[in-house]
Amino acid sequence: MNNNKAIEIFEIGPRDGFQSVRDYIPLETKLSVVERIIEAGVKSIQVTSFVSPKAIPQMRDAKELTAFCIEKYPGIKFTALVPNLYGANMAAESGLKEISYVVSLSESHNRANIRRSHEESFEELQKILRGLPQMAICLDLATAFGCPFEGKKTPEQVAAFLPRYVDLGIRTVNLCDTIGVANPAQVRETIAVLNETFPDLTLQIHIHDTRNMGMVNTLAAIEAGVKTTQSTLGGLGGCPFAPGASGNLATEDLVHMLCEMGYETGIDEHKLIDAAKYESTVIDGIYSGHLYQIESSNTKNENCT
Ligand code: COA
Ligand code: ZN
Repeated sequence: MNNNKAIEIFEIGPRDGFQSVRDYIPLETKLSVVERIIEAGVKSIQVTSFVSPKAIPQMRDAKELTAFCIEKYPGIKFTALVPNLYGANMAAESGLKEISYVVSLSESHNRANIRRSHEESFEELQKILRGLPQMAICLDLATAFGCPFEGKKTPEQVAAFLPRYVDLGIRTVNLCDTIGVANPAQVRETIAVLNETFPDLTLQIHIHDTRNMGMVNTLAAIEAGVKTTQSTLGGLGGCPFAPGASGNLATEDLVHMLCEMGYETGIDEHKLIDAAKYESTVIDGIYSGHLYQIESSNTKNENCT
């Protein structure tokens, strides 16, 4: 494998996708989707979130789901999103070695999402680091490109937010376009500024497809040097209560494009398309993906696995 062309596909559908579905998805259905994702060759999966069941009732089986996955698939990297120490402790008890700690660049979004000020979120992370020193922590920076309440965010605002997190020891930051308002120039510039300011930081990208910019923005990030991309199978996501809101870029669409461009993902795109098709039959949600809706034979490319 040419390492310059290797991209880690980080599937987050079981968290960002499932959380958008109003009706509870039975544990066995969740597991059947995860199983198909793994069979297609995906090695990194955000399998759930440890959040208040009052905030997101869909995630109330986080512990069981996580423990089951870790036991059944020891070779797969599982992570979960957490908003606080309580969630981080539950993640650790379930056997996770890696978590994503979510904080929004926009303070108003941070309050709306997790009911914390920036200061409180920072203090909470300090508690997690003290309490769980062995846990690998990725900082999930929500609204990194724009916020529904505060509008557009600049690369400089992102860079100004991070130093004290880097000083705490954070080495991985996931740049989240939470509502899907970024553009490729902004993505490129943000990554360039961060690479310049924090050369030791590893960046990930997480783009919502609200304005059909999921693919171009994710590609812009890859071409700016990002090696790990987040996406959801089928593009499942959005919010049933907010018409027009969209989920993430669809993983199978992304894998198809990367494969056509000669990138290495280690994923069988046809199996992934079949997994997305399967998911759409067992989970009633909003899907932004394109390929799962057509015959997978139409996407055959001999160069791709
Ligand atoms: N997991 C499960 N339960 C949790 C929890 C967690 N991570 N954190 C807190 N709780 C429980 C508390 O035990 C308490 O339970 P009780 O009412 O039975 O006593 C209750 O939730 C309230 O706790 P509190 O610390 O006051 O939380 P809050 O009401 O201020 O809510 C969050 C804060 C962060 C827990 C909540 O807003 C949340 O889970 N948000 C997640 C939102 C999300 O997932 N967004 C999408 C992904 S970015
Ligand atoms: Zn998201």
